[in-house]
Amino acid sequence: MSKLIIEGKHKLSGAMNIHGAKNSALPVLAATILANGISEIHNCPQLSDVAASVRILRHLGCNVSRSENCVTVDSLGLCRSDIPDTLMREMRSSIVFLGAIAARTGEAHLTFPGGCELGTRPIDLHLSALRQLGMEILEDGGRLECSVKARMKGATIALAFPSVGATENIILASVTAEGTTSILNAAREPEIVDLCNYLNKCGARITGAGESAITIEGVDSLYGCAHSVIPDRIETVTYMAAAAITGSTLTLKSVNPQHVATVLPVFREAGCAVFPSKGEIKISAPGRLNRVHSVRTMPYPGFPTDAQAPVMAMITVADGTSVFIENIFESRYKHAGELMRLGAKIKIEGRVAVVEGVKRLSGTQVECTDLRGGAALVIAGLAADGVTEVTHIHHIDRGYEKLKENLCGIGAVVKRV
Ligand code: EPZ
Repeated sequence: MSKLIIEGKHKLSGAMNIHGAKNSALPVLAATILANGISEIHNCPQLSDVAASVRILRHLGCNVSRSENCVTVDSLGLCRSDIPDTLMREMRSSIVFLGAIAARTGEAHLTFPGGCELGTRPIDLHLSALRQLGMEILEDGGRLECSVKARMKGATIALAFPSVGATENIILASVTAEGTTSILNAAREPEIVDLCNYLNKCGARITGAGESAITIEGVDSLYGCAHSVIPDRIETVTYMAAAAITGSTLTLKSVNPQHVATVLPVFREAGCAVFPSKGEIKISAPGRLNRVHSVRTMPYPGFPTDAQAPVMAMITVADGTSVFIENIFESRYKHAGELMRLGAKIKIEGRVAVVEGVKRLSGTQVECTDLRGGAALVIAGLAADGVTEVTHIHHIDRGYEKLKENLCGIGAVVKRV
């Protein structure tokens, strides 16, 4: 079991390149199943979740090779339609393979992805939407046995909640369906737009990506293409929070400032100077941050739920009291308990977290509870007195490529043992 040993109170400086977005690479890799041929996915981050997706593609019979940050998938040889439970359990977002496998083979056999640290992670919106497209889904003791009689048929689907995963599954199931599909109340995340850009390059006919209404005109078949994944907006916010809590000036490159437009005001309210420019964001933090009045997580383009933990970490040492309202996941404050072990003062009331700023944090051993919660502990450790040991960092490896190397490259003192 690896852990990070962080020596706090070192200023950061210089510049670093942000990697490709995990939450775009995963659905795009699932989508390669539909492209009858070779796709090259560039700017693909080296993460354990990406490795898990590659294992699923290989299990299905695809030929997958990986260079530095390009994954090449030849899905011509796809010959299975099942995902073994072990692979499903490795990564709950494997559910996004369901629509693609069923659309390609006419059937899909997988298990319920299971909950995770953020709550039960239901998939009711996925299943009801796929049934509207003509998929027969038998839920039998945690197993999902799916079959499509002839070919999926386009439908108008209104989502009760703009679920990212459900929107992706509907798109993947309907690009080669018969007729047209409309998604109302669709998720508007940049990762949805990226997925649709890849699919349209493969010959799909999708309009409205990024809006609440997406229209997919079914086509008979798709072909492979080359695609470069968008920058990771949550990794961007994570490194901004690291600069903010250490009173540093940092330049982040290969970013898309537009994708974090509703997060930048929070950093400015906290007293940071933030300069977005083409492909770059420069942040310069004060000696001590101001509190932020209130941060509400919302579907895109609102403040992203994935940014809540990293921003909460940085605000634990601000001057004053800040309030967070987590509107997306039912329990996404598990990191608060670990932050309190470092000396943070946080009070949780349901979806509301009240963070009373403290002057200093003191290093100790803390345990990652989930991916973004783990990033929060690293951010806090960068500012804590003494040494902070962060354990269970396999959570972090799911979504942050070369975190230790990147932090050391900008002045932090971090060891991985
Ligand atoms: C995606 O998860 C991301 N994961 C999450 O990032 C992100 O936090 C989330 O979107 C919200 O932006 C990937 O893209 C791989 P949702 P997803 O469906 O698709 C409820 C990270 O840290 N819901 O938009 O699972 C659900 O319980 C991860 O990178 C249903 O009730 O998110 C949640 O409360 C964590 N029924 C809310 O909707 C459903 O059928 C948002 O979920 C589906 C979802």
